[in-house]
Amino acid sequence: MSARKRASATACSNIAFIKYWGKRDFDWNVPLNDSISMNLSAAVTTTTVEWDPELAQDEIYLEGERVLDERGLRISRYLDRIRNDWYRMGARVASVNSFPAGTGIASSASGFAALASAAIAAFQEDKPDEIEMTRWARRGSGSACRSIQSGFVEWTAGSNDEGSVSQQFCPPEHWDLTDLVVLVSRSPKLISSSQGHRIAVAHPFMEERQKLLPSRILALKGALAKRDFQTFGEIVEHEAMEVQAIMMSGQPSAFYMQPGTVALIHAVRSWREEGGLPVYFTLDAGPNMHVLCESRYAPEVRRCIEKLVPRAEILENRAGPGTTVHDEHLF
Ligand code: DP6
Repeated sequence: MSARKRASATACSNIAFIKYWGKRDFDWNVPLNDSISMNLSAAVTTTTVEWDPELAQDEIYLEGERVLDERGLRISRYLDRIRNDWYRMGARVASVNSFPAGTGIASSASGFAALASAAIAAFQEDKPDEIEMTRWARRGSGSACRSIQSGFVEWTAGSNDEGSVSQQFCPPEHWDLTDLVVLVSRSPKLISSSQGHRIAVAHPFMEERQKLLPSRILALKGALAKRDFQTFGEIVEHEAMEVQAIMMSGQPSAFYMQPGTVALIHAVRSWREEGGLPVYFTLDAGPNMHVLCESRYAPEVRRCIEKLVPRAEILENRAGPGTTVHDEHLF
């Protein structure tokens, strides 16, 4: 194969209601437990990949800037996996996000879902099998596999690379939920998710967590299927706090919350418990708050957030689409 081949893909990030925290296999990002998420319609990455036989090394551009640092290396190492399987040539990669860089929004999920889809579509004529694409996305960053399908997605942990795949649980139109992501801090985090997964597997609470998860996951799926917001919110908030407890009490300790995060936790609980507003939250490995409500309450929840944090930067998401491959190339 000698001609250049190019393809583009667009993918949403996702927010986990049941979290992936701890890996069974670190080379292949096989997690300890199943997880469930919703795609974030406003947190989108578009990536173009061109395989070029004349390129001696990869050329990687993020937000229009050529990168030669750790981020570029991670992408090249990932492309090596694809090259090992198919063919050997350099790639030109350009990627842009719809959301500001360095805000702690999980760009690795949308980033690797888009990269995997574009890199494979660029030389494979037939549309790749969707389940196989979830494997490819997961090999780049675990949570990326949940961005391949649309709406609400379940990632089955499996016990090895072959068995660890995601599948849609409900389409986006099943339930009109909103995730208002409040950007709390732009400081880079001191412990990356990848490091966090390593610390987590050594944590003494982890064994107990694994025992508790199967019934929690069943209950969450029941609440999602029935659109029972109260049960859903209670499970999601409890899950977020359990994972934060493991993060902050690990060795070393990862303390992702900032004062603004804590203020929002108290506020969400008081809007709910004192104000009667049906609203819950979740958190990831970072300080940003994900404030969750049914979309009909989103304007009111937004007003509450803006009253508390007057110049709040908020990214408003609905359940988003899956990854699409298209011809709107970035170069
Ligand atoms: C807290 O998918 O970023 O967001 O597989 O090492 O790239 P790697 O980790 P990553 O971990 C995400 C962790 C989380 C929870 C979740 O999304 O389930």
